[in-house]
Amino acid sequence: MDELSTRLDELRDLGLYRRLRLVSGPQGPRVVLDGTPVLLLCSNNYLGLSDHPRIREAAADAAMRWGVGAGASRLVSGSMTIHGRLEERLARFKGTEGALLFGSGYLANFGVIQALGDRSSMIFSDELNHASIVEGCRAAKAPVFVYRHNDLEHLAWGLREKTPRNAGRPLIVTDSVFSMDGDIAPLEGIADLAQRFDARTIVDEAHATGCIGPNGRGAVAAAGLEQEIDAIVGTLGKALGAYGAFVAGSNELMRYLVNAARPLIFSTAPAPPIVAGALAALELLEQSPERVERLQANARTLHGALQAEGFAMPDDPSHILPIMVGDATTTMNVTESLLERRVFAQGIRPPTVPEGTSRLRVTVSASHTPQELRKAAQAIAEVARAHGLDVGEGPKRPSMTNAREDDLGEWSAAPSRNGAAQPEAGRKASSSAFFDVEQIDPGMVRARRTSPQFGLRG
Ligand SMILES: Cc1ncc(COP(=O)(O)O)c(C=O)c1O
Repeated sequence: MDELSTRLDELRDLGLYRRLRLVSGPQGPRVVLDGTPVLLLCSNNYLGLSDHPRIREAAADAAMRWGVGAGASRLVSGSMTIHGRLEERLARFKGTEGALLFGSGYLANFGVIQALGDRSSMIFSDELNHASIVEGCRAAKAPVFVYRHNDLEHLAWGLREKTPRNAGRPLIVTDSVFSMDGDIAPLEGIADLAQRFDARTIVDEAHATGCIGPNGRGAVAAAGLEQEIDAIVGTLGKALGAYGAFVAGSNELMRYLVNAARPLIFSTAPAPPIVAGALAALELLEQSPERVERLQANARTLHGALQAEGFAMPDDPSHILPIMVGDATTTMNVTESLLERRVFAQGIRPPTVPEGTSRLRVTVSASHTPQELRKAAQAIAEVARAHGLDVGEGPKRPSMTNAREDDLGEWSAAPSRNGAAQPEAGRKASSSAFFDVEQIDPGMVRARRTSPQFGLRG
Protein backbone atom coordinates (compact mmCIF):
# COMPACT_ATOMS: atom_id res chain seq x y z
CA MET A 1 0.00 0.00 0.00
CA ASP A 2 2.82 2.33 0.94
CA GLU A 3 4.40 1.62 -2.38
CA LEU A 4 1.19 2.69 -4.15
CA SER A 5 0.99 5.95 -2.25
CA THR A 6 4.65 6.63 -3.12
CA ARG A 7 3.88 6.04 -6.77
CA LEU A 8 0.86 8.33 -6.58
CA ASP A 9 3.02 11.02 -4.98
CA GLU A 10 5.55 10.64 -7.79
CA LEU A 11 2.81 11.10 -10.35
CA ARG A 12 1.66 14.25 -8.55
CA ASP A 13 5.22 15.62 -8.54
CA LEU A 14 5.52 15.00 -12.27
CA GLY A 15 2.18 16.70 -13.01
CA LEU A 16 0.88 13.33 -14.22
CA TYR A 17 -1.68 12.52 -11.51
CA ARG A 18 -5.17 11.83 -12.88
CA ARG A 19 -8.56 11.80 -11.24
CA LEU A 20 -12.12 11.23 -12.35
CA ARG A 21 -14.53 14.13 -12.81
CA LEU A 22 -18.27 13.51 -12.70
CA VAL A 23 -20.82 14.73 -15.22
CA SER A 24 -24.43 15.00 -14.04
CA GLY A 25 -27.17 14.48 -16.60
CA PRO A 26 -26.66 13.56 -20.23
CA GLN A 27 -23.69 14.36 -22.44
CA GLY A 28 -24.07 17.43 -24.67
CA PRO A 29 -22.25 20.54 -25.85
CA ARG A 30 -22.66 21.86 -22.31
CA VAL A 31 -22.59 19.62 -19.26
CA VAL A 32 -22.64 19.91 -15.51
CA LEU A 33 -19.18 18.90 -14.39
CA ASP A 34 -18.60 18.26 -10.69
CA GLY A 35 -21.68 20.43 -10.08
CA THR A 36 -20.69 23.32 -12.35
CA PRO A 37 -22.10 24.02 -15.82
CA VAL A 38 -19.34 24.15 -18.42
CA LEU A 39 -18.92 24.33 -22.16
CA LEU A 40 -17.63 20.88 -23.12
CA LEU A 41 -14.70 20.97 -25.53
CA CYS A 42 -13.16 17.57 -25.03
CA SER A 43 -15.81 14.96 -25.74
CA ASN A 44 -15.82 12.49 -28.64
CA ASN A 45 -19.60 12.83 -28.92
CA TYR A 46 -18.85 14.59 -32.20
CA LEU A 47 -22.30 14.56 -33.71
CA GLY A 48 -24.07 15.22 -30.42
CA LEU A 49 -26.02 11.97 -30.75
CA SER A 50 -25.51 10.39 -27.33
CA ASP A 51 -28.59 12.08 -25.84
CA HIS A 52 -30.68 12.18 -29.01
CA PRO A 53 -34.33 11.25 -28.24
CA ARG A 54 -34.56 8.69 -31.04
CA ILE A 55 -31.45 6.92 -29.90
CA ARG A 56 -32.55 6.93 -26.28
CA GLU A 57 -35.91 5.52 -27.32
CA ALA A 58 -34.31 2.81 -29.44
CA ALA A 59 -32.11 1.77 -26.51
CA ALA A 60 -35.03 1.81 -24.08
CA ASP A 61 -37.24 -0.25 -26.45
CA ALA A 62 -34.45 -2.75 -26.95
CA ALA A 63 -34.06 -3.16 -23.20
CA MET A 64 -37.76 -4.05 -23.02
CA ARG A 65 -37.62 -6.39 -26.00
CA TRP A 66 -34.27 -8.14 -25.60
CA GLY A 67 -33.30 -7.35 -22.02
CA VAL A 68 -30.29 -5.51 -20.74
CA GLY A 69 -27.51 -8.02 -21.28
CA ALA A 70 -26.59 -10.60 -23.91
CA GLY A 71 -25.77 -13.11 -21.20
CA ALA A 72 -22.89 -14.85 -22.97
CA SER A 73 -20.14 -14.38 -25.50
CA ARG A 74 -20.99 -14.26 -29.20
CA LEU A 75 -19.77 -17.83 -29.73
CA VAL A 76 -21.89 -19.30 -26.96
CA SER A 77 -25.45 -17.96 -26.79
CA GLY A 78 -24.83 -14.18 -26.88
CA SER A 79 -25.30 -13.58 -30.63
CA MET A 80 -28.75 -12.02 -30.99
CA THR A 81 -30.69 -10.84 -34.02
CA ILE A 82 -30.02 -7.22 -33.10
CA HIS A 83 -26.25 -7.85 -33.37
CA GLY A 84 -26.73 -9.29 -36.84
CA ARG A 85 -28.83 -6.33 -37.95
CA LEU A 86 -26.26 -3.78 -36.83
CA GLU A 87 -23.44 -5.74 -38.44
CA GLU A 88 -25.24 -5.82 -41.80
CA ARG A 89 -25.90 -2.11 -41.58
CA LEU A 90 -22.31 -1.29 -40.63
CA ALA A 91 -20.96 -3.32 -43.54
CA ARG A 92 -23.19 -1.36 -45.91
CA PHE A 93 -22.12 1.92 -44.32
CA LYS A 94 -18.43 1.08 -44.67
CA GLY A 95 -18.79 -0.48 -48.13
CA THR A 96 -17.46 -3.90 -47.11
CA GLU A 97 -18.78 -7.46 -47.34
CA GLY A 98 -19.09 -7.92 -43.62
CA ALA A 99 -18.70 -6.41 -40.17
CA LEU A 100 -18.27 -7.87 -36.71
CA LEU A 101 -19.13 -6.19 -33.41
CA PHE A 102 -16.70 -5.98 -30.51
CA GLY A 103 -17.22 -4.73 -26.96
CA SER A 104 -15.17 -1.55 -27.54
CA GLY A 105 -12.66 0.03 -29.88
CA TYR A 106 -9.91 -1.03 -27.54
CA LEU A 107 -11.01 -4.66 -27.81
CA ALA A 108 -11.53 -4.46 -31.57
CA ASN A 109 -8.01 -3.15 -32.21
CA PHE A 110 -6.54 -5.58 -29.76
CA GLY A 111 -8.44 -8.50 -31.28
CA VAL A 112 -7.85 -7.85 -34.95
CA ILE A 113 -4.12 -7.19 -34.54
CA GLN A 114 -3.62 -10.12 -32.20
CA ALA A 115 -5.48 -12.35 -34.66
CA LEU A 116 -3.72 -11.21 -37.83
CA GLY A 117 -0.26 -10.62 -36.40
CA ASP A 118 0.81 -14.21 -36.17
CA ARG A 119 4.35 -15.43 -35.71
CA SER A 120 5.10 -15.64 -39.39
CA SER A 121 4.36 -11.99 -40.18
CA MET A 122 5.78 -8.61 -39.18
CA ILE A 123 3.70 -5.64 -37.98
CA PHE A 124 4.34 -2.06 -39.11
CA SER A 125 2.73 0.48 -36.77
CA ASP A 126 2.67 4.31 -36.86
CA GLU A 127 4.44 5.77 -33.81
CA LEU A 128 1.34 7.79 -32.83
CA ASN A 129 -1.15 4.94 -33.07
CA HIS A 130 -3.67 4.63 -30.27
CA ALA A 131 -2.78 2.70 -27.10
CA SER A 132 -5.17 -0.10 -28.05
CA ILE A 133 -3.17 -0.68 -31.24
CA VAL A 134 0.02 -0.73 -29.18
CA GLU A 135 -1.56 -3.33 -26.91
CA GLY A 136 -2.69 -5.39 -29.91
CA CYS A 137 0.88 -5.32 -31.19
CA ARG A 138 2.14 -6.48 -27.82
CA ALA A 139 -0.35 -9.34 -27.77
CA ALA A 140 0.45 -10.43 -31.33
CA LYS A 141 3.14 -13.00 -31.87
CA ALA A 142 4.69 -10.98 -34.70
CA PRO A 143 7.60 -8.58 -34.23
CA VAL A 144 6.73 -4.91 -34.62
CA PHE A 145 8.44 -2.12 -36.52
CA VAL A 146 7.32 1.36 -35.40
CA TYR A 147 7.54 3.82 -38.28
CA ARG A 148 7.75 7.57 -37.91
CA HIS A 149 4.44 9.34 -37.84
CA ASN A 150 2.80 9.40 -41.27
CA ASP A 151 6.21 8.85 -42.87
CA LEU A 152 5.72 6.73 -46.00
CA GLU A 153 9.43 6.65 -46.75
CA HIS A 154 10.22 5.24 -43.36
CA LEU A 155 7.42 2.72 -43.73
CA ALA A 156 8.70 1.69 -47.16
CA TRP A 157 12.22 1.37 -45.79
CA GLY A 158 10.99 -0.81 -42.96
CA LEU A 159 8.97 -3.02 -45.30
CA ARG A 160 11.99 -3.44 -47.55
CA GLU A 161 14.74 -3.80 -44.96
CA LYS A 162 13.14 -5.17 -41.84
CA THR A 163 10.78 -7.85 -43.03
CA PRO A 164 12.46 -11.14 -42.14
CA ARG A 165 13.22 -13.48 -45.02
CA ASN A 166 10.55 -16.13 -45.53
CA ALA A 167 8.13 -14.12 -43.39
CA GLY A 168 4.42 -14.28 -44.11
CA ARG A 169 2.44 -11.25 -45.25
CA PRO A 170 3.40 -8.05 -43.37
CA LEU A 171 0.65 -6.16 -41.54
CA ILE A 172 0.44 -2.35 -41.63
CA VAL A 173 -1.70 -0.68 -38.99
CA THR A 174 -2.59 2.98 -38.62
CA ASP A 175 -5.19 5.33 -37.18
CA SER A 176 -6.93 7.25 -39.95
CA VAL A 177 -7.67 10.40 -37.92
CA PHE A 178 -5.07 10.49 -35.14
CA SER A 179 -6.78 10.84 -31.80
CA MET A 180 -4.50 13.38 -30.15
CA ASP A 181 -3.36 15.38 -33.21
CA GLY A 182 -6.40 15.30 -35.46
CA ASP A 183 -4.30 14.78 -38.57
CA ILE A 184 -5.04 12.12 -41.16
CA ALA A 185 -2.88 9.20 -42.27
CA PRO A 186 -1.71 9.11 -45.92
CA LEU A 187 -4.01 6.19 -46.69
CA GLU A 188 -3.47 6.13 -50.44
CA GLY A 189 0.28 5.89 -49.98
CA ILE A 190 -0.15 3.19 -47.37
CA ALA A 191 -2.44 1.21 -49.67
CA ASP A 192 0.13 1.54 -52.49
CA LEU A 193 2.90 0.24 -50.26
CA ALA A 194 0.66 -2.57 -49.06
CA GLN A 195 0.11 -3.62 -52.65
CA ARG A 196 3.82 -3.39 -53.46
CA PHE A 197 4.88 -5.46 -50.46
CA ASP A 198 1.82 -7.75 -50.40
CA ALA A 199 0.95 -6.45 -46.93
CA ARG A 200 -2.37 -6.59 -45.11
CA THR A 201 -3.73 -3.30 -43.77
CA ILE A 202 -5.73 -2.34 -40.69
CA VAL A 203 -7.09 1.21 -40.45
CA ASP A 204 -8.59 2.46 -37.19
CA GLU A 205 -11.39 4.89 -38.02
CA ALA A 206 -12.40 5.58 -34.39
CA HIS A 207 -12.30 9.34 -34.93
CA ALA A 208 -13.24 9.32 -38.60
CA THR A 209 -16.43 7.26 -38.52
CA GLY A 210 -19.34 9.71 -38.58
CA CYS A 211 -16.99 12.68 -38.90
CA ILE A 212 -15.33 12.79 -42.30
CA GLY A 213 -15.71 11.32 -45.76
CA PRO A 214 -18.91 10.96 -47.79
CA ASN A 215 -21.84 11.11 -45.34
CA GLY A 216 -19.44 10.49 -42.47
CA ARG A 217 -18.35 7.12 -43.84
CA GLY A 218 -14.74 7.80 -42.84
CA ALA A 219 -11.32 8.47 -44.33
CA VAL A 220 -11.06 5.10 -46.07
CA ALA A 221 -14.30 5.81 -47.97
CA ALA A 222 -13.12 9.37 -48.69
CA ALA A 223 -10.06 7.88 -50.38
CA GLY A 224 -12.16 5.23 -52.17
CA LEU A 225 -10.11 2.46 -50.55
CA GLU A 226 -12.88 0.27 -49.11
CA GLN A 227 -11.77 -2.68 -51.22
CA GLU A 228 -8.05 -2.11 -50.62
CA ILE A 229 -7.96 -1.93 -46.82
CA ASP A 230 -8.27 -5.37 -45.25
CA ALA A 231 -9.75 -4.38 -41.90
CA ILE A 232 -11.49 -1.13 -41.01
CA VAL A 233 -12.02 -0.62 -37.29
CA GLY A 234 -14.78 1.78 -36.28
CA THR A 235 -16.18 2.74 -32.90
CA LEU A 236 -19.78 3.23 -31.81
CA GLY A 237 -18.95 5.23 -28.68
CA LYS A 238 -17.70 8.41 -30.32
CA ALA A 239 -19.60 10.09 -33.20
CA LEU A 240 -22.31 7.42 -33.05
CA GLY A 241 -23.00 8.29 -29.43
CA ALA A 242 -23.35 4.73 -28.05
CA TYR A 243 -20.65 2.25 -27.03
CA GLY A 244 -18.78 -0.63 -28.63
CA ALA A 245 -16.99 -1.05 -31.93
CA PHE A 246 -16.71 -3.12 -35.08
CA VAL A 247 -14.28 -4.48 -37.61
CA ALA A 248 -15.41 -4.26 -41.25
CA GLY A 249 -13.87 -6.23 -44.13
CA SER A 250 -14.33 -9.37 -46.17
CA ASN A 251 -16.58 -12.20 -45.04
CA GLU A 252 -13.53 -14.42 -44.89
CA LEU A 253 -11.85 -12.03 -42.46
CA MET A 254 -15.01 -11.96 -40.31
CA ARG A 255 -15.02 -15.77 -40.18
CA TYR A 256 -11.35 -15.75 -39.25
CA LEU A 257 -11.86 -13.22 -36.45
CA VAL A 258 -14.71 -15.28 -35.03
CA ASN A 259 -12.22 -18.11 -34.73
CA ALA A 260 -9.12 -16.19 -33.68
CA ALA A 261 -9.88 -12.80 -32.04
CA ARG A 262 -9.64 -13.46 -28.32
CA PRO A 263 -11.66 -10.42 -27.12
CA LEU A 264 -14.57 -11.62 -29.24
CA ILE A 265 -14.27 -15.23 -28.16
CA PHE A 266 -13.72 -14.70 -24.45
CA SER A 267 -15.93 -11.71 -23.64
CA THR A 268 -19.67 -11.16 -23.28
CA ALA A 269 -21.46 -9.90 -26.41
CA PRO A 270 -22.38 -6.19 -26.56
CA ALA A 271 -25.57 -5.31 -24.64
CA PRO A 272 -28.77 -5.15 -26.76
CA PRO A 273 -29.80 -1.58 -25.73
CA ILE A 274 -26.41 -0.27 -26.77
CA VAL A 275 -26.51 -2.15 -30.06
CA ALA A 276 -30.01 -0.83 -30.79
CA GLY A 277 -28.90 2.69 -29.86
CA ALA A 278 -25.96 2.47 -32.27
CA LEU A 279 -28.28 1.16 -35.01
CA ALA A 280 -30.61 4.13 -34.50
CA ALA A 281 -27.61 6.49 -34.59
CA LEU A 282 -26.46 5.02 -37.87
CA GLU A 283 -29.94 5.39 -39.37
CA LEU A 284 -30.07 8.98 -38.17
CA LEU A 285 -26.68 9.72 -39.69
CA GLU A 286 -27.75 8.24 -43.02
CA GLN A 287 -30.96 10.28 -43.00
CA SER A 288 -29.34 13.56 -41.96
CA PRO A 289 -25.75 13.74 -43.19
CA GLU A 290 -25.88 17.52 -42.70
CA ARG A 291 -24.78 16.80 -39.12
CA VAL A 292 -21.37 15.89 -40.52
CA GLU A 293 -21.24 19.16 -42.45
CA ARG A 294 -22.15 21.04 -39.26
CA LEU A 295 -19.35 19.29 -37.40
CA GLN A 296 -16.86 20.22 -40.08
CA ALA A 297 -18.11 23.83 -40.23
CA ASN A 298 -17.75 24.07 -36.44
CA ALA A 299 -14.23 22.67 -36.68
CA ARG A 300 -13.36 25.38 -39.21
CA THR A 301 -14.92 28.06 -37.00
CA LEU A 302 -12.93 27.07 -33.91
CA HIS A 303 -9.76 26.56 -35.92
CA GLY A 304 -10.12 30.04 -37.47
CA ALA A 305 -10.89 31.64 -34.10
CA LEU A 306 -7.86 30.01 -32.45
CA GLN A 307 -5.66 31.08 -35.35
CA ALA A 308 -6.98 34.63 -35.06
CA GLU A 309 -6.05 34.55 -31.37
CA GLY A 310 -2.46 33.79 -32.34
CA PHE A 311 -2.27 30.02 -31.86
CA ALA A 312 -0.22 28.19 -34.46
CA MET A 313 -2.74 25.62 -35.62
CA PRO A 314 -2.45 22.78 -38.13
CA ASP A 315 -3.13 23.90 -41.72
CA ASP A 316 -5.70 21.26 -42.33
CA PRO A 317 -8.11 21.32 -39.40
CA SER A 318 -10.23 18.39 -38.30
CA HIS A 319 -12.68 18.21 -35.40
CA ILE A 320 -9.70 17.43 -33.10
CA LEU A 321 -7.55 20.50 -32.53
CA PRO A 322 -4.36 20.19 -30.48
CA ILE A 323 -3.21 23.32 -28.65
CA MET A 324 0.37 22.62 -27.73
CA VAL A 325 1.63 23.64 -24.30
CA GLY A 326 4.65 21.37 -23.75
CA ASP A 327 5.00 20.88 -20.04
CA ALA A 328 2.51 18.61 -18.22
CA THR A 329 2.05 20.75 -15.10
CA THR A 330 1.41 23.95 -17.06
CA THR A 331 -1.03 22.09 -19.28
CA MET A 332 -3.09 20.99 -16.30
CA ASN A 333 -2.92 24.46 -14.78
CA VAL A 334 -4.34 25.84 -18.02
CA THR A 335 -7.14 23.26 -17.90
CA GLU A 336 -7.99 24.24 -14.30
CA SER A 337 -7.97 27.97 -15.11
CA LEU A 338 -10.22 27.34 -18.08
CA LEU A 339 -12.62 25.48 -15.83
CA GLU A 340 -12.82 28.61 -13.71
CA ARG A 341 -13.99 30.29 -16.92
CA ARG A 342 -16.42 27.39 -17.37
CA VAL A 343 -14.70 25.92 -20.38
CA PHE A 344 -13.67 22.27 -20.16
CA ALA A 345 -10.71 21.49 -22.44
CA GLN A 346 -8.90 18.48 -21.06
CA GLY A 347 -5.13 18.61 -20.78
CA ILE A 348 -3.43 15.57 -22.31
CA ARG A 349 -0.11 14.42 -20.92
CA PRO A 350 2.34 11.53 -21.25
CA PRO A 351 2.04 8.64 -21.67
CA THR A 352 -0.96 9.51 -23.87
CA VAL A 353 1.23 11.92 -25.86
CA PRO A 354 5.02 12.14 -26.20
CA GLU A 355 7.07 13.75 -23.46
CA GLY A 356 7.22 17.53 -23.92
CA THR A 357 4.11 17.71 -26.11
CA SER A 358 1.43 18.00 -23.44
CA ARG A 359 -1.49 19.85 -24.86
CA LEU A 360 -5.10 20.79 -24.68
CA ARG A 361 -6.96 18.42 -26.93
CA VAL A 362 -9.88 20.52 -28.03
CA THR A 363 -12.74 18.86 -29.87
CA VAL A 364 -15.87 20.29 -31.41
CA SER A 365 -19.32 18.85 -31.77
CA ALA A 366 -21.97 19.44 -34.41
CA SER A 367 -24.15 20.73 -31.58
CA HIS A 368 -21.91 23.60 -30.51
CA THR A 369 -22.91 27.03 -31.75
CA PRO A 370 -20.35 29.07 -33.70
CA GLN A 371 -20.70 31.86 -31.16
CA GLU A 372 -19.77 29.71 -28.20
CA LEU A 373 -16.79 28.31 -30.11
CA ARG A 374 -15.53 31.83 -30.84
CA LYS A 375 -15.93 32.83 -27.20
CA ALA A 376 -14.18 29.66 -26.12
CA ALA A 377 -11.21 30.49 -28.36
CA GLN A 378 -11.02 33.89 -26.71
CA ALA A 379 -11.12 32.36 -23.22
CA ILE A 380 -8.45 29.79 -24.14
CA ALA A 381 -6.15 32.51 -25.48
CA GLU A 382 -6.58 34.70 -22.42
CA VAL A 383 -5.89 31.85 -20.04
CA ALA A 384 -2.91 30.70 -22.12
CA ARG A 385 -1.41 34.19 -22.01
CA ALA A 386 -2.04 34.43 -18.28
CA HIS A 387 0.04 31.25 -17.92
CA GLY A 388 2.87 32.78 -19.91
CA LEU A 389 2.34 30.84 -23.13
CA ASP A 390 3.50 32.40 -26.34
CA VAL A 391 0.21 32.97 -28.10
CA GLY A 392 0.64 36.36 -29.73
CA GLU A 393 -1.60 39.31 -29.08
CA GLY A 394 -4.74 38.11 -30.76
CA PRO A 395 -7.41 40.31 -32.31
CA LYS A 396 -8.06 43.81 -30.95
CA ARG A 397 -11.10 43.91 -28.69
CA PRO A 398 -12.24 45.29 -25.35
CA SER A 399 -10.75 43.61 -22.29
CA MET A 400 -12.36 40.30 -21.40
CA THR A 401 -11.57 40.56 -17.72
CA ASN A 402 -15.19 41.34 -16.90
CA ALA A 403 -16.68 39.04 -19.45
CA ARG A 404 -16.63 35.96 -17.29
CA GLU A 405 -20.12 36.38 -15.92
CA ASP A 406 -21.52 36.80 -19.44
CA ASP A 407 -19.84 33.65 -20.60
CA LEU A 408 -21.06 31.80 -17.60
CA GLY A 409 -24.60 33.05 -18.01
CA GLU A 410 -24.81 32.00 -21.62
CA TRP A 411 -23.23 28.60 -21.20
CA SER A 412 -24.95 27.68 -17.97
CA ALA A 413 -28.41 28.74 -19.12
CA ALA A 414 -28.30 27.09 -22.51
CA PRO A 415 -30.93 24.38 -22.76
CA SER A 416 -30.20 20.75 -23.42
CA ARG A 417 -31.77 18.95 -26.33
CA ASN A 418 -34.83 17.98 -24.33
CA GLY A 419 -35.50 21.62 -23.57
CA ALA A 420 -34.46 21.71 -19.93
CA ALA A 421 -31.43 23.54 -18.65
CA GLN A 422 -29.06 20.98 -17.14
CA PRO A 423 -28.90 22.01 -13.52
CA GLU A 424 -29.38 18.50 -12.23
CA ALA A 425 -26.83 18.02 -12.39
CA GLY A 426 -0.94 25.26 -31.32
CA ARG A 427 0.80 23.94 -32.25
CA LYS A 428 0.94 20.78 -34.24
CA ALA A 429 2.71 18.07 -32.33
CA SER A 430 6.26 17.48 -33.26
CA SER A 431 5.88 13.83 -32.77
CA SER A 432 8.90 12.23 -34.31
CA ALA A 433 10.46 11.39 -30.96
CA PHE A 434 7.67 9.34 -29.43
CA PHE A 435 8.95 5.89 -28.70
CA ASP A 436 8.39 5.62 -24.99
CA VAL A 437 6.26 2.54 -25.46
CA GLU A 438 8.20 -0.45 -26.57
CA GLN A 439 6.08 -2.32 -29.03
CA ILE A 440 8.66 -4.77 -30.10
CA ASP A 441 9.27 -8.41 -29.57
CA PRO A 442 12.49 -8.56 -27.51
CA GLY A 443 14.25 -10.81 -29.97
CA MET A 444 13.57 -8.54 -32.91
CA VAL A 445 13.67 -4.89 -33.74
CA ARG A 446 13.35 -2.61 -30.72
CA ALA A 447 12.14 0.93 -31.31
CA ARG A 448 14.03 3.57 -29.47
CA ARG A 449 13.82 7.26 -29.60
CA THR A 450 17.13 7.81 -31.30
CA SER A 451 17.75 4.38 -32.69
CA PRO A 452 20.23 4.85 -35.54
CA GLN A 453 19.09 1.65 -37.21
CA PHE A 454 15.89 3.43 -38.28
CA GLY A 455 17.71 6.59 -39.27
CA LEU A 456 15.53 8.59 -36.90
CA ARG A 457 15.88 12.26 -36.41
CA GLY A 458 17.36 12.43 -32.91
C1 LIG B 1 -7.87 5.97 -32.24
C2 LIG B 1 -8.64 5.22 -31.20
N1 LIG B 1 -8.87 3.92 -31.39
C3 LIG B 1 -9.56 3.19 -30.50
C4 LIG B 1 -10.06 3.76 -29.36
C5 LIG B 1 -10.79 2.91 -28.37
O1 LIG B 1 -12.17 3.01 -28.58
P1 LIG B 1 -13.17 2.71 -27.39
O2 LIG B 1 -13.27 3.96 -26.60
O3 LIG B 1 -14.44 2.31 -28.07
O4 LIG B 1 -12.57 1.59 -26.59
C6 LIG B 1 -9.87 5.11 -29.11
C7 LIG B 1 -10.41 5.71 -27.88
O5 LIG B 1 -10.35 6.85 -27.61
C8 LIG B 1 -9.13 5.87 -30.05
O6 LIG B 1 -8.89 7.15 -29.86
